[in-house]
Amino acid sequence: MNINKYDKNRELFMKAVKVIPAGIYGHLGPAEGCFTPVSAYPFFSQQAKGAYFWDVDGNRFIDYMCAYGPIILGYNDEEVDGAAIEQLKKGNCVTSPSSIMVEFAELMVDTVEMADWVFFAKNGGDVTSFAIMVARAATGRKKVILVNGGYHGVAPWTQQEGYPGIIKQDVENNFYVEWNNFEEVERIVKEHPGEIACFMATPYHHPVFADNELPADGYWQKIRKLCTDHGIVLAIDDVRCGFRLDMAGSDQYFGFKADLMCFCKAIANGWSVSALCGIDALKDAAASVKYTGSYWLSAVPFAAGIACLNKLKKIDAPKHLQEKGKKLTDGLVSIGKAHGFDLKVTGVESMWYMRIANDDSFLLHQEWVAECVRRGAFFTNHHNHFINWALTDEDIKKTHEIADEAFHILKKRHF
Ligand SMILES: Cc1ncc(COP(=O)(O)O)c(C=O)c1O
Repeated sequence: MNINKYDKNRELFMKAVKVIPAGIYGHLGPAEGCFTPVSAYPFFSQQAKGAYFWDVDGNRFIDYMCAYGPIILGYNDEEVDGAAIEQLKKGNCVTSPSSIMVEFAELMVDTVEMADWVFFAKNGGDVTSFAIMVARAATGRKKVILVNGGYHGVAPWTQQEGYPGIIKQDVENNFYVEWNNFEEVERIVKEHPGEIACFMATPYHHPVFADNELPADGYWQKIRKLCTDHGIVLAIDDVRCGFRLDMAGSDQYFGFKADLMCFCKAIANGWSVSALCGIDALKDAAASVKYTGSYWLSAVPFAAGIACLNKLKKIDAPKHLQEKGKKLTDGLVSIGKAHGFDLKVTGVESMWYMRIANDDSFLLHQEWVAECVRRGAFFTNHHNHFINWALTDEDIKKTHEIADEAFHILKKRHF
């Protein structure tokens, strides 16, 4: 099998570090360690189409990270990009918002079961922060309850004391609980009567470096009742799962109703738009919060979002993405087993997390992932993965062949 070389990637990275902090910052860069061992990974892409991207050395990857979630239909989807290009000819960033904004808002409200209204921004972190502000404006309270290991972006309130640039005051109103531990949430609520504005969590637990966990039976229903009884806003961060489990929202999928729901990835297949959906009772509070941005009302991503949501509904994307994910992961598990490796798959199949459970240090898993990436299947070591609609059976077969060879190499090297 062909093994990738990354000479141009490395040359470009050496140029990048001179003019860009960390060369590539954030979750796409090697500095955060997502790509360990870095020697196996490309740094810069050249182009992308369907289920693939190509790096600057011309290596092709079957992409199981999908830009960390936004790509749900595959890269450069013709219907979505076509709608965006048509809108671009009419206008994008204009003094008055385009009428298409209202059309998109109506579609979101029709699509998301809990939504009586929607507020658009750009990134997931814009709307998770807005959700906290709306909850505080509505309740007049300042404390929030969050789940340990949950990710809601990079605004100071989402980080930890001691991280560069973060001060105690940024996080002093946060309480942290363990996932699926209802009693802990209940205890904090009882110990702080009239102080908790919001409980925010993802619909199921998808942290990094840890197996993903679904909600325990009755967990969300108990949380819902607790929040209602104590006047606490229940905010669901559906930034990553949104439209991957259920077109009506992941709260529907798990059988409860949120007060606020944050969406971002997958709304517009890579075009920059995020959304906070809410119930009527919180609409005035949302209107009262001072919150906007230069590009938040730009029309092109709205056009892309309309085309994307309509297509996701038409093809029943959540169901088919789960099926593709199951086919892929069932194969990976049984190929691993044939070589004596216990590949543990958790989370939902369209967004699965995996690790080789024979070794708690993650090193064996990192090595296997690196061998897969070198052969053109783009996985990461410690983050959940994503399935996109453009992925074919042929791609899944090729991925299984790559995984087989990578397991074989690991076995020869270590056992
Ligand atoms: C669950 C969740 N919430 C919030 C965010 C932040 O979104 P963004 O990076 O678009 O600000 C992310 C991003 O990965 C996420 O996965």
